[in-house]
Amino acid sequence: VDKIAPKLNGNKEGTFAYTTVKDRWPKIVTKLVDLLKTGIKDIVTDIGEEADGDVRSILEVLSKLRYLIMTDKPLENLIDNADDAMMWNGMLQELREHDMQLEQETVTWYRADWLFVECYLYRYIYSAVYSTVKMREFDYFQTNKRDSFTDHIGQIEESCAYLLPIIAEDAPVHETFGLATMIKMSLWGNRADMSLTGGDNLTLEQSSMNASAQRDKFILVDNIHELTARVLFPLLKRRGEQPANRRIDIVLDNAGVELVGDLLLAEYFISMGFADQVHLHGKSFPWFVSDVTRGDFNWTLEQLQINGESCSKIAERLKQRIADGQIIFENHRFWTYPHAYCDMKTVCPDLYEELQTSSLAIFKGDLNYRKLVGDRDWDLDTSFNTALRGFEPCPVFALRTLKAETVAGLGKEVINELIRQYDEDNSWMTSGEYAVCQLGGAAPP
Ligand code: F6P
Ligand code: MG
Repeated sequence: VDKIAPKLNGNKEGTFAYTTVKDRWPKIVTKLVDLLKTGIKDIVTDIGEEADGDVRSILEVLSKLRYLIMTDKPLENLIDNADDAMMWNGMLQELREHDMQLEQETVTWYRADWLFVECYLYRYIYSAVYSTVKMREFDYFQTNKRDSFTDHIGQIEESCAYLLPIIAEDAPVHETFGLATMIKMSLWGNRADMSLTGGDNLTLEQSSMNASAQRDKFILVDNIHELTARVLFPLLKRRGEQPANRRIDIVLDNAGVELVGDLLLAEYFISMGFADQVHLHGKSFPWFVSDVTRGDFNWTLEQLQINGESCSKIAERLKQRIADGQIIFENHRFWTYPHAYCDMKTVCPDLYEELQTSSLAIFKGDLNYRKLVGDRDWDLDTSFNTALRGFEPCPVFALRTLKAETVAGLGKEVINELIRQYDEDNSWMTSGEYAVCQLGGAAPP
């Protein structure tokens, strides 16, 4: 019987989780406070007089929040009336009852499971905004996300220009031409996430075509070949079948350059005949600083339209796909829940059943990976499927750069090499330098 590894926790000094609670979260909250203080005039001009009081009430919650984190206070119930508040408060209650039985207190900022409390942090911030009169729709991370697009415009243009001739009508037919490149572009786009830096864009260049080609040696597990042979080729063979039902899902992570890579991958899958439909899953409110919301999705398409010839051609195609129902954006609320994905079947059976109709679900980024493997301290050689703990609605493919101390499915040689290079030092797990492209989940039909 496989042992279940313990969950990561912010209480252990020296770990990245600990540094996150101690330094990264207060920094993220402080940045938000600064943003609201300096932006208050513009917000009032945009939204109207009431926004003044709204901003002040959000600021009050944020300074309280900083204090609650830094003094490791117990987690409070949410007091807004959004759809998911009951779920959160129910979970908090269960955790408290569990603590009572064990006569200990763990439902606090440092002591609760890291994944749970980090999701709670972003939900708590949203609660402050959701409870206002006029600012419910306000995206407080919007500037960061838009900057990530603008700062990478050179790379974005380059990526669009790469894809266009491959998907052109008269392109020579070569079924998997560009496939690995497109997948890796989408993968390395994940390095550009902003929550590591608390909202500062990382230095650029990391996902450009050239930079991406240089980074193969940092991919610790590369299952692109298995994905092609076992999932994508069989999908290609089923082209034209009725009912079509050749669907690929991409569970998105960050806006900006990463989202563009994912959109290009979606277009590639449809144009090359691997899928009839691609479902893109985003978040229903601002999440982990840079994650994609519907607003970011629409804004990105508009920006592509007005940024150079290759970008605007791609934008045209994408818009047509959306109009034809071939690319569909969804934002199920499970994606902003704190659960590991092995709990999806019981917590949100509707979403699980939906994914069961898919031929492949691609999970982007670090947080999705943490949820895939339950944010546990697995032995590095534990198989990916063991760590998924029964999450298998369809074949699952993770494209993730490592930014947290959890990973499974590494080979013996890779582990030995990491030990040789890093010894006891775990920094390779959190630097965003390394990546995995891992296939698991249900066996393809
Ligand atoms: O804070 C936890 C964490 O998983 C980080 O390690 C990472 O910076 C961030 O959240 C999100 O990364 P991603 O956007 O790749 O999910
Ligand atoms: Mg993210």
